[in-house]
Amino acid sequence: MLKCRSDGSTLTKVLDLGSQPLGNGFLAQSDFGNEFWYSLTCGFSESSLLFQLVDQPDAGLMFHDNYKFQSSTSQAMSTHFERLFDDFVSGGRVRVDGGLIVELGCNDGVFLRHAASQGIRHVGVEPSRGVGEVARDLGVNVLDGFFTPEVAHSIQSDSGKATLIYAANVMCHISDIDSILGGVDALLADDGFLVFEDPYLGDVVQKVSYDQIYDEHVFLFSALSVQRLFNRIGLELVDVEHLDTHGGSMRYWLARPGHTQPLPSVAKTLKQEYELGLHSTETFVNFAANVAQSAEMLRATLEDLRSNGLRVSAFGATSKSTTVYNYAGIGPTLIESVFDNTESKIGLYTPGVHIPVVSDIEFKVPYPDTTFLGAWNHSVEIQRKYPEYELQGGRWLTHVPDVHFVP
Ligand code: TMP
Repeated sequence: MLKCRSDGSTLTKVLDLGSQPLGNGFLAQSDFGNEFWYSLTCGFSESSLLFQLVDQPDAGLMFHDNYKFQSSTSQAMSTHFERLFDDFVSGGRVRVDGGLIVELGCNDGVFLRHAASQGIRHVGVEPSRGVGEVARDLGVNVLDGFFTPEVAHSIQSDSGKATLIYAANVMCHISDIDSILGGVDALLADDGFLVFEDPYLGDVVQKVSYDQIYDEHVFLFSALSVQRLFNRIGLELVDVEHLDTHGGSMRYWLARPGHTQPLPSVAKTLKQEYELGLHSTETFVNFAANVAQSAEMLRATLEDLRSNGLRVSAFGATSKSTTVYNYAGIGPTLIESVFDNTESKIGLYTPGVHIPVVSDIEFKVPYPDTTFLGAWNHSVEIQRKYPEYELQGGRWLTHVPDVHFVP
C-alpha cells in the first residue's frame, strides 16, 4: 500500500508520467550514458489532501553544489522579490525591529540581499553551495545545508526567534515535510509569520500544466492541504495570495493562534478549492486524462509542423519542459534546439531527450518558424524581447492551458 509522505495515510496513485531524468539535469554529450532515471508517478491522499510524488530521487542528486537554477536570471523574478521585500518590511506586517528574517532556500540571495543592504537581521539556509556563494557575495548571511529542527534550534540559540520564516519555491521540494514542522515550531516567534509560496495545485489542475511536476516538486500544495498540514503544530492559515509567478503560485501566511484574525481570502479560497475538487481523488484521475490528451496534442502538432518542412525550436531550457519532452516523446527531430540565457546551460543538452541548448543570442534571422515556449510562465517577458519575431512570420507555441499558437 502506498502511503502519504506526511501523515502515513493511504495514497492513491493518480498519474503516471513515465520514466524521467532529473528535471534540471542538463548534460554534456559525454554524459549521455550516465543519466539518472526514475519513475515519475503522483499520488493523492484524501486524508492529508496532499498531492505528491510517489518516488523522489535522493535530495543530494538534485540540490548539489553545482545546482544550476539561479532565481535572479529572470528580471521578472528579481522584481517580484524586491517588491515583496518592500511589502513585508514597509507594509509593517512583519516586525523587523528586533526581529529576524529566516529564509529557507535563499538561493542566490534574490530576496535576502534586500535585508542585507538595509541592515536587517537575517539568516538564509541554502543546501546548494554554488548559489549560496553568490548570495554570500551580496552580503547575505548564509548557512549551508538543509533546514532541519537542529538547524532551527541553532539559529534560535544564536539569533533568537524569527518574526518571519519565508520560503519561495522551497517547501514543495521538501520530501520530509514533517521535519519542517518541528523546525518552524521551534523557531517562530509568537508574533511571527511563516510565509511561503509555491506553484499552486489549483492552477496545475485548471491549466493542465503538468510540467510543474518533476523530481524537485515532491508536493503541489493547495490551501486545503497547507491548512491541514500546519494545523498539526497549531498554526492557522491567516491569509492566501494568488500569484502569477511560475505560471500560478499561492502564497500562504500562517501564524500562531490569537496573533491575527484570518482574512476573508482564506475562506474564499477554501470554498473555491472544494468547488474545484482539490479534496477528491476523482479530480486527479480526470486531470491525468487531460494530461495524456495535452501531451498527445503537442506531439501531433509538432509532427505536423515538421512534416510540413517547418523548423521548430524552443525557448527556455526549463526543468518543467523536461517532463513534457520526456513524457510526450519530443526530441531533437521535433525540436531542433532550445534557446536560453543561462550561461551554465548553454552548450549542454536537455535531460533525457537531448535537445541542444543554445545561447539566446542565436535567436535571430533565420528564425525558426515555430518556437515552443518551454518557459511559458515567462512568455510575456520573452515575447517582449523579440517583437520582430512575429513580424518575420515566426509563431510562438504553448501547451498551456491547451496546445495553441500564442497571438
Ligand atoms: P524558470 O521557469 O524555472 O524560471 O526558468 C526559466 C528559464 O528560461 C531559465 O533557464 C532562463 C530562461 N529564460 C531565458 O532564456 N530568457 C528570458 O528572457 C527568460 C525570462 C527566461
